[in-house]
Amino acid sequence: MWWRDAVVYQVYPRSFQDSDGDGVGDLRGIERRLDHLSWLGVDAVWLSPIYPSPLADMGYDVSDFTGIDPVYGTHDDFDSLREAAHRRGIRLVMDLVPCHTSIEHPWFRDHPERYIWSGRDGPRNNWLATFGGSAWTPDPMNRGWYMHSFYPEQPDLNWRNPEVARAMGDVVRFWLARGADGFRVDALDRLVKDAEFRDDPPAREPFPLPLPAEYAQLEHRHSVNSPDIHAAVAKLRAAAGEHPLIGEVYLPAAEVVPYLQSVDLAFCFELLHAGWERQRLREAIDAGLSLERDGAPAAAWVLSNHDFIRLATRIGEENARAAAVLLLTLPGAAFAYQGEEIGMVDGPGGDPPFDRAGRDVARHPMQWDATPSGGFTDGDPWLPAVDPRVRNVASQHDDESSLLRLYRDLIALRRTLGPDLELIDSDLGVLAYRRGRHLVAINLTPEERPAPGHGEVVLATHEHVGGLAPHAAIVAAAD
Ligand code: GLC
Repeated sequence: MWWRDAVVYQVYPRSFQDSDGDGVGDLRGIERRLDHLSWLGVDAVWLSPIYPSPLADMGYDVSDFTGIDPVYGTHDDFDSLREAAHRRGIRLVMDLVPCHTSIEHPWFRDHPERYIWSGRDGPRNNWLATFGGSAWTPDPMNRGWYMHSFYPEQPDLNWRNPEVARAMGDVVRFWLARGADGFRVDALDRLVKDAEFRDDPPAREPFPLPLPAEYAQLEHRHSVNSPDIHAAVAKLRAAAGEHPLIGEVYLPAAEVVPYLQSVDLAFCFELLHAGWERQRLREAIDAGLSLERDGAPAAAWVLSNHDFIRLATRIGEENARAAAVLLLTLPGAAFAYQGEEIGMVDGPGGDPPFDRAGRDVARHPMQWDATPSGGFTDGDPWLPAVDPRVRNVASQHDDESSLLRLYRDLIALRRTLGPDLELIDSDLGVLAYRRGRHLVAINLTPEERPAPGHGEVVLATHEHVGGLAPHAAIVAAAD
């Protein structure tokens, strides 16, 4: 079960490495950069969608689940990437999008029974789409109104129809036969909705994780997380066999637990949204620790991905080193989004925007060197580089004090940490925990703070002078 404590590196294919000068990243580009990933020591790569897509949701609107968009390459390129990754001991995790298709997927035209229809000339109920407006839209082919959890270009599949589970099972088997090692499963909590289409009630209290403002007005009691969902997830489990499924379940951990009947890991979004505040971080860690499968940690710890403001922009560049310590010293799997290892910050996004929900900012190209395009492309990048002269892989590679080197050291060090985590009392503004024989202490403040009692320091983000320097973290022998 290699995934249990894996470091999984998320590649956003459009923005990782372009190999043919069209300004868009591609599979050959990813292959060319694999040495960076094996030098870092990651166990697996999660590839955000590489399938044909009209790009209403930048690839999460899939029009052919077993195809590869020509902009990314061919199946041969995929095979070559997989071989090259496996040769280096790096596993390949695909992105599976089972909740919806693109409106341009042939199923939508030829198999309307695989989708969810209102059955009347108008919306069936008050359900909302995540990124705004009603979850019901009239069909351009005049067959009624269909339901969509996200953009109208992404009609939801009807998992109450056994044909859908069979077809998606075929997709899973296709990629496994092609040598994929597992799946990150998109929007899993949306897979099945209320059979009676009951209205969602108004939200009486804020949802525990951030939501778009309009969408947050309702409590998504019936449109999300139906009790019938687990039978559907079990079908994905059956198709995946022994290969890991990593669930994107955007719910507080307590409601994620039942998904672990069928998925191996689930993201702990509390951590991503905890800010840099001691009590909230402690609660997020507790929440993540409650995610277990067969008695082992099943949290996929995450501080950033392609959907949210980048970490350094969110918590401040001065905290990026300590955040790396946090992410990589928690028990379970750690998911790192491309660019976090060099501390990338948000960019301006596209003008006009590519993503209508404002997520371009976290999707700017990877910065490999100090040239104007950051070494990402020889052509015109689809989104400009943000600040390749300020931060890039090449210069940090050569600098022993860089964030990149720290990342690599942490990935090596995490293998030596004990299996359990125990939060310990510490000074205000300090987050501290024990991992077996090791102690981790993180100063969340801009002032020096006393470190909890400890033995020899084995890793420090800043010069260690007895106490914890502002924004510093240490890993030390426990007292
Ligand atoms: C997930 C993806 C996000 C996408 C949504 C709909 O949350 O991470 O990028 O917009 O699902 O597929």
